[in-house]
Amino acid sequence: MATGGRLCFLLVALAAAGGSAAEGCDPYAGSWVVEASYPLYDPAKCPFVRKEFDCVRYGRPDKGYLKYRWEAAGGGCELPEFDGLHLLGRWRGKRVMFVGDSLSLNMYDSLLCLLHAADPRGRISSAAAGVRFEDFNVTISYYLSHYLVDIVSEKIGRVLKLDSIKGGRDWVNADVLIFNTWHWWPRRGLSQPWDYIQVGGVVLKDMDRTVAFSKALGTWVKWVRSNIDPNTQKVFYQGVSPSHYHGNEWGESIGKSCVGQTEPVKGSYYPNEPLPQEEIVKDIMTKIPLVSLLDITLLSQLRKDAHPSKYSGIQANPDCSHWCLPGLPDTWNILLYASIIN
Ligand SMILES: *[C@@H]1O[C@H](CO)[C@@H](O)[C@H](O)[C@H]1NC(C)=O
Repeated sequence: MATGGRLCFLLVALAAAGGSAAEGCDPYAGSWVVEASYPLYDPAKCPFVRKEFDCVRYGRPDKGYLKYRWEAAGGGCELPEFDGLHLLGRWRGKRVMFVGDSLSLNMYDSLLCLLHAADPRGRISSAAAGVRFEDFNVTISYYLSHYLVDIVSEKIGRVLKLDSIKGGRDWVNADVLIFNTWHWWPRRGLSQPWDYIQVGGVVLKDMDRTVAFSKALGTWVKWVRSNIDPNTQKVFYQGVSPSHYHGNEWGESIGKSCVGQTEPVKGSYYPNEPLPQEEIVKDIMTKIPLVSLLDITLLSQLRKDAHPSKYSGIQANPDCSHWCLPGLPDTWNILLYASIIN
C-alpha cells in the first residue's frame, strides 16, 4: 500500500499523464540515462554556485557526470521538464525557504541557478532575507539549521534540545518550506557543535545518534502540525542525502570512494541496504500527509560520480557528501517542481 502523500502524488501524476495507469508507478524508482542537452545551466553564468560545489571551475576533468537525466521507471511517471518561468509564476508573491544543513544549501544554490537560467535578464536582488526575483516578487532563502531542533548555550555548555524548535519562529512566515537534517547527527569531537543533549527534563552527555535524530524529527512533526496552515503553506522534506566514502556499499572495494568515479551505478538497484535514517524519515513522513517527502535517497545513492571529490577548491579531504553543480541537486529540484505543478 502506498503512503498517503505518495499515493496522492502518484494519482495526480497519472492523471496528468493522461491516466494510462502504470501499476506501481513511482517517480523515485528509475535509472540514470545519458541526456545530450544536459546540464541545465552553465555554472560560469550562474552567480549562485558556491565554490564548494563548482566542480567545473575547480578543474574536474571528466564531464560525463553533467549529462545524466533521471528517468522514472513507470510509463505514467515521466518527469516534466523544469520550466523556471512557470515556477516563478506559480510562486508569484511568495517566500520559499530551505531549512537545514549544507545539503539544503546545495539544493538551494541549484534552484537559484535553474531559475536564473530561465530568466537570465530578470531583475534579481540579494539581501540578508534571501534572493529576490523582482519581476515575480519571489523570495528564496536558506536558513542554516544543522539539527532543526535548538542548540542553547547554558551554564553547563551548549545543549542540543531534542524537544525544542524555537528556531521555527523564523520559518513560520514562509509560504513554501523545504526541510532537511541528518549529516550533523553522527558528528563527534571538535566538529560536534554541542556538549550535552537534552530529552524532556533529562540532560545527557550523549545518546544513540539515530535515536536522537528520530526524536528530533518527532518534535519537528509536532511543530509542523501546530504552526503550518495546509491551506496556505506547503511543506516538503528533502530525504536523506547519501555519501560515498566506502566502495563496498556499491560493489567495489571498501577503500574506494567517490574519487575518480565517472559514471553512476547502472540500473535501479543500490547494493547497500537502505540507510536506517532513510527508513525513519519515510516512516515519520507517512504519518503527516501535509508534508511531501522528496524521496531522493536511492536515486542519489546511484550517483557515486556526482560529488565534488577533489574539485571543491578546498585542499582538505575529498568531499563525497555534497554534490557538484550543475548536477544531482538539479534533479532534486525537478522532483520538487513535479510535485508542485501536479
Ligand atoms: C511581495 O511579496 C510579499 C510577500 O512575500 C508581500 O508582502 C508584498 O506585498 C509583495 N509586494 C508586491 C509589490 O506585490
